[in-house]
Amino acid sequence: MSLRIKQVSQELDLPVSTIRYWQNEFEEFVNPERTNGGQRRYSEKDISVLGQIKDLVYGKKKTIVQAKKVLNKGVKNMNAIDWNEQAILLTGGTGSFGKHFCRIMLEKYNPKVIRIYSRDELKQHEMRIAFKDDPRLRFFIGDVRDGDRLRRAMDGVDMVVHAAALKQVPACEYNPFEAVKTNVHGAQNVIDAAIDTGVKKVIALSTDKAVNPVNLYGATKLCSDKLFVQGNAYAGEKITRFACVRYGNVIGSRGSVIPLFLEQKKSGTITITDDRMTRFWITLEEAVELVLKAFHYMEGGEIFVPIIPSMRIMDLARAIAPDCKIKNIGIRPGEKLHEALTGEDEGRNTISYKGMYVILPAMDWWEQENYRGGKKLPEDFIYTSDNNQSWLGVEELRRIVYGDIREVPGKEKEQAVA
Ligand SMILES: NC(=O)c1ccc[n+]([C@@H]2O[C@H](COP(=O)([O-])OP(=O)(O)OC[C@H]3O[C@@H](n4cnc5c(N)ncnc54)[C@H](OP(=O)(O)O)[C@@H]3O)[C@@H](O)[C@H]2O)c1
Repeated sequence: MSLRIKQVSQELDLPVSTIRYWQNEFEEFVNPERTNGGQRRYSEKDISVLGQIKDLVYGKKKTIVQAKKVLNKGVKNMNAIDWNEQAILLTGGTGSFGKHFCRIMLEKYNPKVIRIYSRDELKQHEMRIAFKDDPRLRFFIGDVRDGDRLRRAMDGVDMVVHAAALKQVPACEYNPFEAVKTNVHGAQNVIDAAIDTGVKKVIALSTDKAVNPVNLYGATKLCSDKLFVQGNAYAGEKITRFACVRYGNVIGSRGSVIPLFLEQKKSGTITITDDRMTRFWITLEEAVELVLKAFHYMEGGEIFVPIIPSMRIMDLARAIAPDCKIKNIGIRPGEKLHEALTGEDEGRNTISYKGMYVILPAMDWWEQENYRGGKKLPEDFIYTSDNNQSWLGVEELRRIVYGDIREVPGKEKEQAVA
């Protein structure tokens, strides 16, 4: 649908002169196309933005400058994102999260395109085949350490999901320079490229290990979180907004404990590092849903934390291999007994909102527009895997590992995982 200015005037109950005036003042948000004869034609998006401006200026009594600020900060977020219209770039698209994200997006939301950005051509080749050469998927070889390549890959992109990372705790510990280059410099490159190319929104994936980190992986992800939160200040008047999602272990993702236990089960002995250990658990579907919710609500600078269950490592061992011997090998360097999803000093900025905890940025520049109805939490609120209200027991864990088998493109059958 595209309308003439008179029709827009009737639809929005606004004088034509006001529409012309706002169009000049808000030219980065309202871009009517011109016919060959030079007449303007307003798209649905233009009309929706004009409606928002009307609400801000007449309803909320904002000045033009204030209204621009609000639009920049994403009042549009309050409306559902029309994914049909979006071009997405997904760093780390061939990983566990990336493949599930693509599957859900392609099946449910039909974006214009998803550009996969990662280094290994073989993983990309396998993914292309697994997704049956879906024309909405494009494969870009590139390293997040390479800012120029990222800039080229983000050209024309609306939304970015930053999932690429080095994430194995021991690998990061033994290769610290590499972990910093990928997880910290890579994050900075993503932020710079997104601002330079006019991306609208960026969600970066974080981890519970970034809270009070005791290993380099967690420390690099904490740096990355801080870069993304502060990236909003770097963006200044540009439209790009950044936020993070932070969650715990993904059930069965590459290199996680479930595939390890399943392998060890064959030998009759399972190794655990400490029988008191607890962890948060999230499924890939929930992780993808969290990212989509974050895109929807974000104004920029938030860290979105899902409310998810915990499990005891001993219960997992019993669920996977009830008949196996359990060998206690002692806690590893850089490992915690319990994980946290919000830290001690984050409580005062955390609200409970729509089934999530949202850590709001404690920055002078941040003006809160969304989150009406969000519940403020006690100042000393922390969310740790051992003080959780919700737990997965042995039976549920068994069902997750052995019963809940989902088809994932690229694999014949996978156990709730990629
Ligand atoms: N899995 C979990 O339990 C968990 C929990 C909390 C948070 N997270 C976070 O979620 C994100 C995704 O995790 P995942 O489980 O999907 O990881 P994954 O399966 O290991 O996948 C990592 C992806 O990143 C790409 N990658 C790695 N280094 C890169 C680089 N320098 N440049 C470009 N691409 C690079 C990899 O492809 P190439 O090797 O081909 O480049 C791969 O596509 C990570 O940020 C992780 O920290 C994961």
